[in-house]
Amino acid sequence: MRRKSKSVVLIGYMGAGKTTIGKKLAQKLGIAFYDTDELIEQEQGMTVAKIFEQYSEPYFRDLETGMVKKLSESEKPMVLSVGGGLPVRRENHEYLKKIGTVVYLKVSVEELVRRLSGDSKRPLLKGEMELSEKITEMLRVREPLYLEACDYYMETDGKSIFELVTELINHKGEKA
Ligand code: S3P
Repeated sequence: MRRKSKSVVLIGYMGAGKTTIGKKLAQKLGIAFYDTDELIEQEQGMTVAKIFEQYSEPYFRDLETGMVKKLSESEKPMVLSVGGGLPVRRENHEYLKKIGTVVYLKVSVEELVRRLSGDSKRPLLKGEMELSEKITEMLRVREPLYLEACDYYMETDGKSIFELVTELINHKGEKA
């Protein structure tokens, strides 16, 4: 059951701007901002990269599900930014929808490559494969799930943070 609140959940690929836009949106709406990666890092006392390295990806995915389930039980209005892989687990969709309006921030592969080249923080971007190939392949799997999880999506290429926040406040965007 969706909570009747102004809470917004931002989903999308790594580098989509979920955290930056989420913080600004929360400020405008005068509500709290949370980021699942940050909450998990605080709870576990180590970085996401370290959790992947020491305990494996499935372990991190379980932490994500636990975190989003816990957040879905809170009554507090919030803007929540979630890790790019969280909506890949279908069971998480119900928790996201329970929290609030789910918005997918859509970014082109070209723009993602531009933003993510040289990134050293994100374990899934490591490896031999060329970045644009890797992103294309991951989006092929993930995008249908992002679209399934969201209430609507927003094309973000070429738009300023101000424009995006305004669009979010006015609830514009394409129906998924
Ligand atoms: C991941 C995205 C990251 C973080 C982890 C895995 C993913 O979060 O949760 O490195 O699978 O896409 P951001 O989307 O905030 O970068």
